[in-house]
Amino acid sequence: MDKEIIVEMKHITKLFPGVVANDDISISIQKGEIYALLGENGAGKSTLMSILFGLYQPDHGEIYIRGQKVTLESSRTAAELGIGMVHQHFKLIDNYTIAENIILCREPIHRLLGFLPAVDLKKANKEIRELSQKFHLEVDPEQKIEDINVSVQQRVEILKMLYREADILIFDEPTAILTPQEIEYLLDIMQELRRNGKTIILITHKLEEVKKIADRCAILRRGKLIKVLDVSRTSTLEMANLMVGKEFSFDINKTPARCGDVVLDVEHLSVRSENKVEVVHDVSFKVHQGEIFAIAGVSGNGQVEIADAIAGLIPVHSGTIRLNGRDITNLDVRERTEAGISYIPEDRQQVGMVADMTLAENMAIKSYYREPFAKRGILQPEVIKNYAEKLVRDYDVRTGSGVDTPMGSLSGGNQQKVLVAREIGLNSVLMIFVQPTRGLDIGAISHIHHQILDEREKGKAILLISLELSEIMDLADTIGVIFRGELLKIEDASKMTPSEVGRYMMGVKE
Ligand SMILES: Nc1ncnc2c1ncn2[C@@H]1O[C@H](COP(=O)(O)OP(=O)(O)OP(=O)(O)O)[C@@H](O)[C@H]1O
Ligand SMILES: [Mg+2]
Repeated sequence: MDKEIIVEMKHITKLFPGVVANDDISISIQKGEIYALLGENGAGKSTLMSILFGLYQPDHGEIYIRGQKVTLESSRTAAELGIGMVHQHFKLIDNYTIAENIILCREPIHRLLGFLPAVDLKKANKEIRELSQKFHLEVDPEQKIEDINVSVQQRVEILKMLYREADILIFDEPTAILTPQEIEYLLDIMQELRRNGKTIILITHKLEEVKKIADRCAILRRGKLIKVLDVSRTSTLEMANLMVGKEFSFDINKTPARCGDVVLDVEHLSVRSENKVEVVHDVSFKVHQGEIFAIAGVSGNGQVEIADAIAGLIPVHSGTIRLNGRDITNLDVRERTEAGISYIPEDRQQVGMVADMTLAENMAIKSYYREPFAKRGILQPEVIKNYAEKLVRDYDVRTGSGVDTPMGSLSGGNQQKVLVAREIGLNSVLMIFVQPTRGLDIGAISHIHHQILDEREKGKAILLISLELSEIMDLADTIGVIFRGELLKIEDASKMTPSEVGRYMMGVKE
């Protein structure tokens, strides 16, 4: 091999209580390549990259950067060696401007009156503008973080790495939070970065992305390196099989819907944001027993607010919501859960779970006060534990210390599995799923899709909100397309093609 090896990790092992997160992993990365890391939830991808970025120390193993053996005792050391990382959850300061965030700790200084040191913001703004033009990462350096959306925040994180002259760039699931259009844009940026000589390590669950831009791809399974592949010579199905360790099938066998009575009846629903902007405008639809009603739309068009309003997390401005004929418009969240609503929210870390509590406690969080988890007001920890253990087995949640593991130490995808298991376990008449498979590996996605279809078979009414058109086309019986807070079209899923749905999503009417 004549290419220069820029990163070499040799025999890396990392232990956490009860798990071998990385088990004797050796990889070497060439300068200027896009190297993908693929693997099931909990396979050890984030851990391996956190070690390369100096956030964790390996228990065994060595790291070489540009041929030199290094000890990465902190992310500062990693940054000095030209390593940058964009985490899945951004680390930006909300009330600072873009420029202030980018230059943090690296401020250009000028001398006021010739001697007083002061931060030269003008110079910083200019440098950032130049950098953003060079890499087509358009931002306005003077805007505040709180005023920009996640996709622009991500650009800021990338600029921050480039401003620090990083040339080894690690991206941990960067596309999980983006819309399809934003993903295209980001993949183009990554290719542009490669043309500029940067080396990129990309963690993702999306095989098409690997296929599209990566040169090589390492597959991890349960902490071990399984194989390193040349992407151009490998099909996505082969990648999937290696990842899950068995034959994987992308097919999903859906039987025709057998719809029963109306469960959810939403009439003339309008919702206003805190600053009085109408984000949902006069929306009406019904969901029946045994029906999956999916709302398709580009992110930010009001779909999440519809779900939040039905679950009771935000107030309704006008209109009515009925569940099995009962008006629930003014009930509080717990009353709605008891009336029969399950809800998987978009933001699992803020709304869905308590990180410091154990997995078992999180599983019971919505029902601990009821039979069989409490008897005559007394908690039954054994019952809760057994119940959680069953769900962990059913949903293949990978943990370190079983159901006593703190929720916050689970890998991102496994946290999501816990939430889905808990909400389906409530056995509600209406189940609202917002982005139920975000951050999940392909095996887990397929498992959850089958679970959703099973609930439909049992006669549950299901409201699915997803940004993934393929997920909607696979699961929906009825599709409602939302655009700027209005349902532009409601139609039988079998009567619409993906491109038609896509057109309505862009606001094109008949
Ligand atoms: N800080 C921690 N404390 C304890 N266990 C941890 C910690 N971080 C990770 N783990 C465990 O190490 C294993 C690997 O986790 P890691 O986050 O690297 O997985 P991943 O491949 O990134 O998964 P995902 O695709 O779900 O993000 C998991 O079993 C996880 O529970
Ligand atoms: Mg991860």
